[in-house]
Amino acid sequence: MSAMKEVIAIIRRHNMQATKAGLLGIGIPALTMVSVEGRGKQKGLPGWNYELDPALAEVEEKNTGINLRFIPKRMIYAVVEDSDVPKVVETIIRTNQTGHAGDGKIFVCPVENAVRVRTGERAEQALR
Ligand SMILES: Nc1ncnc2c1ncn2[C@@H]1O[C@H](COP(=O)(O)OP(=O)(O)OP(=O)(O)O)[C@@H](O)[C@H]1O
Ligand SMILES: [Mg+2]
Repeated sequence: MSAMKEVIAIIRRHNMQATKAGLLGIGIPALTMVSVEGRGKQKGLPGWNYELDPALAEVEEKNTGINLRFIPKRMIYAVVEDSDVPKVVETIIRTNQTGHAGDGKIFVCPVENAVRVRTGERAEQALR
């Protein structure tokens, strides 16, 4: 049974630096990030769509009855030891929580294995 988890967090774009710095501060330097577009339970707030022409989106939404809007976000991935999960989650909350809708979402997922290519180390050894 592996003792690692992948913490996936979708956060506001402008909180990336603070989140990175916060994670570094608790000893988590290694992570991956991607630029994504997403929507939560508000289905995307009007006025935040940079991909679709808002006027076109409005027409499309009227015609299809489907809300098309997505909000640009940053997604970060950190594979960490089980024992580090609580402080990673707390740090992401501390650096992203404003109390307003859209503060972000965190998912904690099981990880089967990890391998450091340079050395061939496996599992938790590959993270240390
Ligand atoms: N259930 C989900 N599955 C996949 N991605 C999600 C899910 N919920 C939220 N997300 C992603 O997280 C981003 C931020 O979500 P958000 O903070 O708006 O969550 P929420 O559930 O709507 O909470 P709030 O009411 O605080 O806004 C979304 O833009 C989307 O990319
Ligand atoms: Mg939301």
